[in-house]
Amino acid sequence: MAEYSMPELIARKRDGGTLDADELRWVIDGYTKGTIPDYQMSAFLMAVVCRGLSSDELAAWTEAMLHSGDVLDLSSIAAPKVDKHSTGGVGDKVSIPLAPLVAACGVAVPMMSGRGLGHTGGTLDKLESIPGFSTSFTADEFVAQLADIGIVLAGQSESLVPADRKIYALRDATATVPSIPLIASSIMSKKLAEDLDALVLDVKVGSGAFMKDLGDAETLARTMVDIGAAHGTKVVAHLTAMDQPLGYEVGNANEIRESIQVLRGGGPPDLVSVTMLLAEEMLLLGGVAPDRSAARDRLEVALSSGAAVDRFRQVVAAQGGNPDVVDDPALLPAPDHLHEVVASRSGYVTRCDALTVGWAAVRLGAGRSRKEDRIDPAVGITLHAKVGDRVEAGSSLATVGWNDRERLDGCLELLETAWEFADEAPPAARLVLGEVR
Ligand code: URA
Repeated sequence: MAEYSMPELIARKRDGGTLDADELRWVIDGYTKGTIPDYQMSAFLMAVVCRGLSSDELAAWTEAMLHSGDVLDLSSIAAPKVDKHSTGGVGDKVSIPLAPLVAACGVAVPMMSGRGLGHTGGTLDKLESIPGFSTSFTADEFVAQLADIGIVLAGQSESLVPADRKIYALRDATATVPSIPLIASSIMSKKLAEDLDALVLDVKVGSGAFMKDLGDAETLARTMVDIGAAHGTKVVAHLTAMDQPLGYEVGNANEIRESIQVLRGGGPPDLVSVTMLLAEEMLLLGGVAPDRSAARDRLEVALSSGAAVDRFRQVVAAQGGNPDVVDDPALLPAPDHLHEVVASRSGYVTRCDALTVGWAAVRLGAGRSRKEDRIDPAVGITLHAKVGDRVEAGSSLATVGWNDRERLDGCLELLETAWEFADEAPPAARLVLGEVR
């Protein structure tokens, strides 16, 4: 491979120029191997955030990420292989109940997820709050578990999309997340490495999403659908609201607890709606249900019969976690202290801002501010009042589970600005905003 000068490539992108496929491959390869340092890659990523990538650049960048490690060969798995990925939100734990639910309906789910990114939580961090749970796989281990139990909940690793593993961690700590080409390439490189038959995307829109408005979210969705089509993978994107957190729990162990409620047939209505919408789509794309109503019936049976929660127990055990947490969530890490955030006035909640709650959770220790930070799996925020709810002055808006006083103070400073109230109830907000296929 030719040698290039990183400062020169950074400067070209900073000034709005383009890089060719060889140059982009060299950047990905060098960063993955460690010959390009974090500080140069951070500058390059920021230049991409500001200047974007052309469609040729995006195709070459995604391809280089995809081939930075092993690409799975799942041809030995007879079941349809369908995965789901979200562009990221606050309280967005949908993947955790959805994957075992769909696997229990006969679709193989080879899921490669990410860690917390910016103010959003990450599936891997949440799963690792289960004592012993490991998300690290070689390609052979991945295929073996998928053949065995029809579901893998993995992360990028040294061998699977290592470029995304490194770039993702760097973006988290350098405010270089909200970029359509960086999000699209990060998601699609992981998903294309999974050798899928089809992919369902949940593109989040709103204050707590990386795409704040519908137009940008549609562009991101179209970009990913087109990357899938160029690789022969069917991709369907649903656009869903992220102005307030999904469900009531934000944090890591907190979100596992709420996911278990969904797998047991309960859980908050907004979380259940999004989970069922995406699960239905996966069953349709996997060809195991002829229409939405049949897909729904099959999913309901998997929930009510206990098959979905059983599959979760199985995957937790297979990945080294303690499966007893499924029946006794008290075995999950818990904070030492609780603090109540109370309403300053009576009225209807008109805003429970996802972005503010997300950053408050990061300050609390549920996310990272530096690559090296260790998250605290036990801390989190349990919401008691969301948009449309009536509250009385002094009633609890949220319970904060905390372990470190300074972190609590930082969290509360933000959290106290998250809610707004009015005397009239606000109109009901839409949860599902569109689709791109
Ligand atoms: N999820 C990912 O995997 N990558 C992103 O950049 C955003 C969400």
